[in-house]
Amino acid sequence: MLSTGLQMRLMRLLSCVTLVLLFQVTDSKKDLKSFCSTCRIITDNFNKGFEITAKQNFGGGNTAWEERTLSKYETSEIRLMEIVEGLCDSSSFDCNHMVEEHEDHFETWWFKRKTKHPDLHKWFCIDTIKVCCPKGMFGPDCSACVGGSERPCHGNGKCDGDGTRGGDGKCSCDDSYRGEFCLDCIDGYFNEVRNDTFSLCTECDSSCKTCTGATNQDCDECKEGWEDDDQEACVDVNECSKDPSPCEEDQYCLNTDGSYSCKACDKVCTGCTGPGPDSCQACASGYQHTEGTCTDIDECSQTEPVCTRENEECVNNKGSYVCFCSEGYEERDDECVQKIEPEKEEESETSETTTSAHGEL
Ligand SMILES: *[C@@H]1O[C@H](CO)[C@@H](O)[C@H](O)[C@H]1NC(C)=O
Repeated sequence: MLSTGLQMRLMRLLSCVTLVLLFQVTDSKKDLKSFCSTCRIITDNFNKGFEITAKQNFGGGNTAWEERTLSKYETSEIRLMEIVEGLCDSSSFDCNHMVEEHEDHFETWWFKRKTKHPDLHKWFCIDTIKVCCPKGMFGPDCSACVGGSERPCHGNGKCDGDGTRGGDGKCSCDDSYRGEFCLDCIDGYFNEVRNDTFSLCTECDSSCKTCTGATNQDCDECKEGWEDDDQEACVDVNECSKDPSPCEEDQYCLNTDGSYSCKACDKVCTGCTGPGPDSCQACASGYQHTEGTCTDIDECSQTEPVCTRENEECVNNKGSYVCFCSEGYEERDDECVQKIEPEKEEESETSETTTSAHGEL
């Protein structure tokens, strides 16, 4: 058996190796694409630098002598150096590395190829250092993207690695499209136009799950919450008219397009058909039906008294009432009996407690 220390060291070594391998795999895959974007940055900045220096000359002023020498500056090594200096952010390692590695190519292009190959990106990134491909092409040999290099993914998606030496040329389709060629429509969309090379997907009517046209009569299948009517069109299902109702006893049902919701009845109702105290099916206990609505019953003013014990009073509240002992009486053994006045006894002892007791009353 290995010692724990050795085991630990081996484990650490192993995870290090795995990490490095993992890093290299993802790194090299990513690099092929990122090499091209680095190169794109460089040639874009070259073109910017070219424009900026177009208005300059050796000195910076515009004297007559400088005017005469301007033509020389235009094609000079000095101008090239000035442009090359501005190609990368100083912090971008990849960019500076690429420029250093291929500095000679800029000179070659500047002095010998510029006229014949004015597009620097094409000459440098695609044809010379071969980190990019023409638009619509991908991979080491610049193969055509799925759907062809003219309109990759038939104009309905993005080709993996498009314009770089990386990627696999496959399509990731735009929102409403799918399939290897991005010619098919996703559920809820239909092909308004379609041939072997062109496809336009348009949204179905909101009642369709799938469809062949724009109206609710063109559904292949109705969406959930919708059903075929006798004209073969998808119409809203009224869930609320179902028996039994899909809602609870103390709720009313609200039908919506494609769905429904259950809402709480007013608290004065027992069952209801809608919101508010006017839509009760029956009144909740403590409420009575008056003029089409449910109102509180004043139990205390009914002819038959509800608080029946002696020395007891009644107070009405919403939906109910309470009985409590009259002033000067207190509840004891379910009866209202006269309070024993504690003040009388304590009065002689301390005047303070007496005062506070009076105050509380
Ligand atoms: C496909 O349809 C598009 C758009 O309607 C049209 O421009 C194109 O010529 C058509 N292609 C074929 C092969 O029919």
